[in-house]
Amino acid sequence: MTSETNSDHLPEKPRRRTLLGWLWALLGLLACIELGWLTGSILKSRKPIAARRQGNRLIDAGRVESFSPGDVKAIPEAMAYLSRLEDGSFIALSKTCTHLGCTVPWDQVRQRFVCPCHGSTFDRTGSVLTAPAIRPLDYYPVRIENGLLRIDIATPTRRETFDASQTTRV
Ligand code: FES
Repeated sequence: MTSETNSDHLPEKPRRRTLLGWLWALLGLLACIELGWLTGSILKSRKPIAARRQGNRLIDAGRVESFSPGDVKAIPEAMAYLSRLEDGSFIALSKTCTHLGCTVPWDQVRQRFVCPCHGSTFDRTGSVLTAPAIRPLDYYPVRIENGLLRIDIATPTRRETFDASQTTRV
């Protein structure tokens, strides 16, 4: 009687093993894809660090005439945004949220930076519009050389408020 019961289940075991084998292979493949994506993200985010290490502290951000007042453009090599204010001056802003350090994207529709982590928002000068952040985004000095905008990424500057001395005029 026992042998009949065992023989009934014999074809089931190899099928289960095969299914488990496929599941493990699929999980392994997903883990490899995620690892590759993570490695790519880390290497990409280290570009500005690599630029700093090579002493390459001046990052080209385009020509003055390519920015209209009100424009905010991401400069990935600097891990920063370059913002042209309504008076025509420029300010370069760090992408790092001053609350807990998440990367802050520019929301073109809402015309503000919106942190995806806890909802802080910042205007185009980097000033806080909505807490929990209490400090404006750090800024970098901007130079204009022969009409070319260059961001000096050597030292992000911490500040408590925005004022015009942080901007660069044409
Ligand atoms: S890290 Fe940006 S709001 Fe918390």
